[in-house]
This record gives sequence, structure tokens and C-alpha cells, in this order.
Amino acid sequence: MLFSRIKPLEAILATAENKSLRRTLGAFQLTMLGIGAVIGTGIFVLTSEAAQKAGPGMMISFMIAGFVCAVAALCYAELASMVPVAGSAYTYTYAVVGEVLAWMVGWALILEYAVGASAVAVGWSGYFVGLINHSSLGIHLPLWLSVGPNEGGVINIPAAVISALVTGLLILGTTESARVNAVLVSIKVLALTVFIALTLPVIHTVNFHPFIPNGWGTVGVVGAASSIFFAYVGFDAVSTAAEETINPQRNVPIGLIGSLLICTIFYLLVSAGAIGAIGAQPVRGLHGAILLPGSAQLAERCQAIVAGGAVRPLACSHEALAHVLRVIGDVGVGNLLGLAAFIALPSVVLMMIFGQTRIFFVMARDGLLPPVLASVHPRFKTPHVVTALTGVVVILMASFLPVGTLADYSNSGTLFAFAMVAVSVLVLRVRDPNRHRPFRTPMLWLVAPLAVFGCIGLYVKLPLVAILVLPVWGAVGLLIYVFYSRSRSYVGRGMVEVEPLEPSPIPGLKE
Ligand code: ALA
Repeated sequence: MLFSRIKPLEAILATAENKSLRRTLGAFQLTMLGIGAVIGTGIFVLTSEAAQKAGPGMMISFMIAGFVCAVAALCYAELASMVPVAGSAYTYTYAVVGEVLAWMVGWALILEYAVGASAVAVGWSGYFVGLINHSSLGIHLPLWLSVGPNEGGVINIPAAVISALVTGLLILGTTESARVNAVLVSIKVLALTVFIALTLPVIHTVNFHPFIPNGWGTVGVVGAASSIFFAYVGFDAVSTAAEETINPQRNVPIGLIGSLLICTIFYLLVSAGAIGAIGAQPVRGLHGAILLPGSAQLAERCQAIVAGGAVRPLACSHEALAHVLRVIGDVGVGNLLGLAAFIALPSVVLMMIFGQTRIFFVMARDGLLPPVLASVHPRFKTPHVVTALTGVVVILMASFLPVGTLADYSNSGTLFAFAMVAVSVLVLRVRDPNRHRPFRTPMLWLVAPLAVFGCIGLYVKLPLVAILVLPVWGAVGLLIYVFYSRSRSYVGRGMVEVEPLEPSPIPGLKE
């Protein structure tokens, strides 16, 4: 009964055929798209948080998180090549394990995208404030306007403003062209390359000891992997582009794994450079107490260290990479790196808010959310209602919460969605083994369980509040489903049709 409402794959595929987008993307463009969506706040900002938990051991954290994403990506690729339509994990689960779980996945994806967008906006804000404070303009944004209450401020105005601007652009129908995406990817890659080139030569091996200061637990290496997982989120953008890909069997996995591999290599080199150049030991409280990233205690301790005249530790910086370069004496290049983050991170916010509106849009089109959310603006041809709604949520969260907390909340939803995708691939292989699969996950019986257990393993090592966010958020979602969506679902009412085109193309793809 619970799993009886399945959206027929044929109806979904008919939608895709109806769209008949031209297949133009090759492996290279897909990889660029993936790198563009992936590199962001994770490496530019959360490196500090990873240092606070894992110290130099964050290099292992990056490898663990990258591995879990790689096996999840291989599962994504199979479904993406078969069901190449919008809605990603939500659509896949609808077609395979039914409406209730699909609803739960769609609901969890709100955490991935909307909360994730706020995290990136807060990360951007750290760089913006750093740039202003280091510029010759003589302006200093006061602390109370630049961080939320947890970190000693009141409201994060820059994060709110960038979220509002991006929302406005999306309502007007701005989408990132392939060319702009290529430029932004180049800026990010160049910034990281310069960082590596400047820091690796000044590495002090002593900074790598102790390598694992806090052990392997929630505030150690695996806990840091659970948080830094955020640095890899976004590669699903590649799978949603499967229907526009030439030879998806070959190119989608190259795009997915290629972008993840390139990002992992960059992340490892960048973290090695940061650790080696200025050290990355966690900041301790009185009597060596462990302090959590984003906590008031850590913020206070950091302020005390800096007030005492010592160099700001990596774990205390809101603009980790620019900070490292400034500390080693490359102030100008540090500022330029800050500028690169300032220019490039808003496109990640855009990708994520766009992803959110797309999920809401598809859920509303399935009758599970109020139809007004699927309404398209007559002039701009964008889903303006759902975009504005998403924007308000993103602005509110970005205004008041710290970046690491938001990233952890986002991760709890994303890990659930990834695990469900892996389960769906397995179920579909059993239930419908002969269906044509443009891409088959290699060694699925090993890869999918690894993805599921990897996601569970990272989930249980998130901070307790982030762990609780998923079931609490899920319970709210379930109530809405039972009292609203269930009776209105088009599938439930036997109204499965080929849907109309979506309102606008994925950012970063349009010529
Ligand atoms: N992976 C993206 C980032 O780190 C979400 O900003």
C-alpha cells in the first residue's frame, strides 16, 4: 500500500522525449559543469571548520567524503541516463519506490538546495567582508552586521543581500550561459591553482604533527568528512544534464567522476598547502577543551587570540584561503583570491536556488504542492512564486545562521537523498532488469551498498542537531503529505500525463 503509488516510468520518459533537447554536451563540458557546481564555499570557507575538527587529518576527511560522493555519483549516473528529467533524486524515487518516499526525498532536497544556498551565501559574505576590510576604501563593516548571533553578531547583511540579488535575477529569468560558466570555472580553478603554487613551497612538515589531534569521531576526522561533504555537493547538476549529452553511456560517468576526481585532487592539494603553510591545529578552550565550529565559545576564543596579538589561526578565519595567503605574506594575491571567491561563489548560490525552484516546481506539477507554486510568470517565463518563496527562506537562514551549521543541515538532507537514489537503482535492477539503461553502474551490487552505508556513516557523524534536523523536518513533511498532498496527488487520482516543458534551462548550459 505504502509503495503502491508509483509514477510510471513511461510517463516520465515521455516528458523527456517531449522536451527533445538537442544532444550537444560532451565529456569536457559536463566536467566543466560539474566543477562549476561543486567548487564553492566548501573549499573556500569550510576548510577552517574542517581544521577545527580534524586538524591536518582533514586531508583524510576530504578523501572519505570524496569517495562516498563518487559511489553515489555512479548510482546517480544510471538513473540519470534512464530518467533524464528534472527533479533529479525526487523523480527517480517517484518512478521506482513510489510517492511517499519520493515526497520525503523531495522534502529532504529542500535541505540540500535551499539550506545549501544559504550556506554558500554566508560563505560568500565572509570573503566580501574580508575584501572590504582589507581594501583601501577605509570602510569596515561592523561585526554585528556581518555575522549571525552565534558568532557574536546580530544579522549577516551581505549574505542576505546576495541571496536577495540572486533570487531577483532568477525571477527575471537570468540563467548562466555556458560561456559565463566556463569563465567562472576558470576563475575558481585559477584561484585554487595559484593558492597551491604559493603555499606548497612554504610547507613546514612540523605543521602536520599531530596529524589527527581529535581522533576519528564526530569532532575528529570522520566528523569533518561529514561536514566537508558539502564541498562535493552539486555534482548532481551533471546528471540532470544527461538528456542533453552526446553518448551519455560514456560521457555522463566521465563528467561525474571526472569532476569529482579533479575536485578531490584540488581539495587535497589546497588543504595540504593550507596546513603546511600556516598550520591547522584546532583551537582549544580552557584546559584543552574541544570547541565546536560555529559555536559562541569558539568565536570568543578566536577574538581573544587575535586581541592578544597572535596570528589568527586557520580555524578562526571566515575566508580561509585568502587568510592563509595573507599570513604567508602574499597580501595582494590573498586579496585577489578573495576577489575570485567574491565573483565566483554567487553562481553556486544561483545553481542551488535554481535547483530548489526546479524541485518545488516538479512537485507542484505532480499535485503534491499547491498549483500556484508551478505558475509561470507571463512575461519572464519563470516560476516566480516558487522562486520568491525559496528566496525568502534562503535570505532568512543566511541572515542568522553560521556557514558550518547550514552546511551540516544541508548535508543531512543530501545524504538521505543520495542513499535513496542508491536504493532506487538496486530496486529497479531487480524489478525491471531488461529495461534499456544508457549507462549501467559498474559493480552495482558493491557500489550501491557502499553508497548507502557511506551516506549513513557520514550522517551519524554529523553534529547531533544536524542529525535531528532530518527526522524533524521529515516528520513535518510527512504531516503535510498526509493532510494535503496525498489526496491531491495527480498520480493518486489516476491523472498521469505527459507534462509540459519546464520554464527555463539549467544554468551553465544555455549557449
Ligand atoms: N559544493 C558547493 C560548495 O562547496 C555546494 O559551495
